[in-house]
Amino acid sequence: MSVIFSGVKPTGFPTLGNYLGALKHFVTYQEENDCYFCVVNQHAITVPQDKLELRDNSRKLAALYLAIGIDPEKSTLFIQSEVPAHAKMGWIMQCISYMGELERMTQFKDKADNRVGVSAGLLTYPPLMASDILLYGTDIVPVGDDQKQHLELTRNLAERFNKQYNDIFTVPDVHIPKIGARIMDLGTPDKKMSKSDENSAGYISMLDDEKTIMKKIKRATTDSEAIVKYDKENKPGVSNLMTIYSLCSGKSINEIEDMYEGKGYGDFKEGVALAVIESLKPIQERYNALINSDELDDILDRGAEKANRVANKMLQKAERAMGLERKRKKK
Ligand code: TYM
Repeated sequence: MSVIFSGVKPTGFPTLGNYLGALKHFVTYQEENDCYFCVVNQHAITVPQDKLELRDNSRKLAALYLAIGIDPEKSTLFIQSEVPAHAKMGWIMQCISYMGELERMTQFKDKADNRVGVSAGLLTYPPLMASDILLYGTDIVPVGDDQKQHLELTRNLAERFNKQYNDIFTVPDVHIPKIGARIMDLGTPDKKMSKSDENSAGYISMLDDEKTIMKKIKRATTDSEAIVKYDKENKPGVSNLMTIYSLCSGKSINEIEDMYEGKGYGDFKEGVALAVIESLKPIQERYNALINSDELDDILDRGAEKANRVANKMLQKAERAMGLERKRKKK
């Protein structure tokens, strides 16, 4: 049995990219492992958030975790800010991180991008992410491709701490899906699909209704060839849609190529949209039943209780290793 940890930021509502690259896979781990799934709301505040929206999005994301099939009897589901050990360990991880390695993170560079008013939290976000993972003795972290660099840093920080202080942290492995690890924006297929994008035509929210999904996919950027063929380099839009189709329908890329041979993009896009609608529909139904239930609060209370118990033990070990605990005078 391995320990699994993953998290999603409650900024906006998860997209089809979040689902196919990460969320969809979480469910597959829970039968045989000790799983922790987290609403990482403290990561969300590295950029300004509307307080009511953040509160709302955190609850919605927790309901979505359950709707995709996370079973609270098998997995621990919780909200990051309800487990203070994350922020405390975050400080420890910041203190063993080097400025240079944090400044080199591509996500930091993209988001900071010479803007004024960039929060220090944006720079120190990866050590907090490392804390999330290391607090639970995590063996495996399932994530999409964009988190790879943060996971490398997490492994480095764990090894650095183990060497400098005491060998207490498990060095985690990253699991990135072979297909769908980077679902691209529908309008600009050289950029990843993102829930914080201002233009909602580029992403499919997991709560989009059938009409919206059909419209967005019909408008997705393709090319002028009218040939359904997988070629990431030269046909990024079509290849992205094929990836989405394949993951939502279970059909292989070759099958899809055969099905649409000699047909135009109109038919193909309709097929993609129907496959997306079919895979999101049961999730949306479960989500709607859950969002206003008391059950959700009970599950999150129990999740926070278990997470606090486990995380506090690791925090105590780390503090002890660094000399942060008080040695009591013998009476
Ligand atoms: P976040 O909230 O940006 O994304 C959540 C998960 O979705 C994946 N993902 C994608 N996969 C495929 N295609 C896309 N277009 C796409 N966009 C996002 C992400 O790789 C991620 O797995 N820093 C993390 C949250 C986090 C975390 C953690 C994750 C905080 N602590 C500890 C794992 C373990 C983030 O911002 O994810």
